[in-house]
Amino acid sequence: MTSTDPVTRDERPARKEEIAEIERWAEETRRVVAAKRDAGGITPVAYCTANQKGGVGKTTTSINLAACLAALGFRVAIWDLDPQHNATLGLGLKPSLQGTHYLFYDDEADPRDLLRTTKVDNLSVIVGHQKLEMLAPGVASMPQGKKILADTVPKLNGTIDVNVFDTPGNLGIYTTNGLYAADRVVVPFTPGSFEIRGIKELNDHVKAIGEDRPEFARKHDGKKFSVDHVFLTAYDGRENNSKDAATIVARGFPDAYIDSPVPKRAPVVTAQSAGEPIITWEPHSSASIGFMKVARTIVERDKVLA
Ligand SMILES: Nc1ncnc2c1ncn2[C@@H]1O[C@H](COP(=O)(O)OP(=O)(O)O)[C@@H](O)[C@H]1O
Ligand SMILES: [Mg+2]
Repeated sequence: MTSTDPVTRDERPARKEEIAEIERWAEETRRVVAAKRDAGGITPVAYCTANQKGGVGKTTTSINLAACLAALGFRVAIWDLDPQHNATLGLGLKPSLQGTHYLFYDDEADPRDLLRTTKVDNLSVIVGHQKLEMLAPGVASMPQGKKILADTVPKLNGTIDVNVFDTPGNLGIYTTNGLYAADRVVVPFTPGSFEIRGIKELNDHVKAIGEDRPEFARKHDGKKFSVDHVFLTAYDGRENNSKDAATIVARGFPDAYIDSPVPKRAPVVTAQSAGEPIITWEPHSSASIGFMKVARTIVERDKVLA
């Protein structure tokens, strides 16, 4: 994000001071990331975007969180674990069997061979394919089927700093794989697309996986595996259901809630159809600034640069 960026097409772009503030932070963070890389490296981290419902902003979050982190100088890979492969399409790529499908199909597969570059600097993707759907029962019936991704992701150490798993709208085998492989869990909601029952179900699923990952606490200074970051996207402060959703979600996840919803902006949808994240498509859109603020909270909370 620089002052030479094209004039925003968002009819209600972010405020100038807000843009300047986040750009200052991004600039400073880029310096820290570069210095840390020079000093011997950045500890790789994996984020799983999860929510058992569809249409709640998971893919939009995966793409834009990944793009924000890439803009900060991290080398980022998105793993498209959804048979609907919207992350692949949203990054302008075609679905292929030479993507996540191959990793679940052949235990000899090396993720380094499957990384594809995108239009965004520092951002790669391992694409999805609809045949993941047909493969799911076979993966689920394997004794270690839920841990295939967890065994695969470390092969990108040294190549990738941040892994982002985009999962389907259910708690099936691919979401479960994402959760077994993740250091942190990110849960987006769009207003009107959640149920209180669903929040409990998701928390319980994450907790059960945490109990099956005794090594997690050792790796993370005693921290329990849990839902770490929750926020609303497609938020409209003029609508009651947006305000109600914020209240309910903040109550459901008191520690994880990020109190800066990403506003609902039409260019988010346009960018995704054009195969690009909103944050590069229209950096000054209030949605881009919104995603940057979410990324900032996540980087600071998780001490990614500590
Ligand atoms: N901030 C936003 N402004 C406008 N539309 C959004 C925003 N966030 C998400 N959307 C739209 O909401 C829809 C569902 O989002 P998506 O990320 O595909 O959800 P999921 O992956 O959970 O199914 C998409 O059409 C997406 O473009
Ligand atoms: Mg999706």
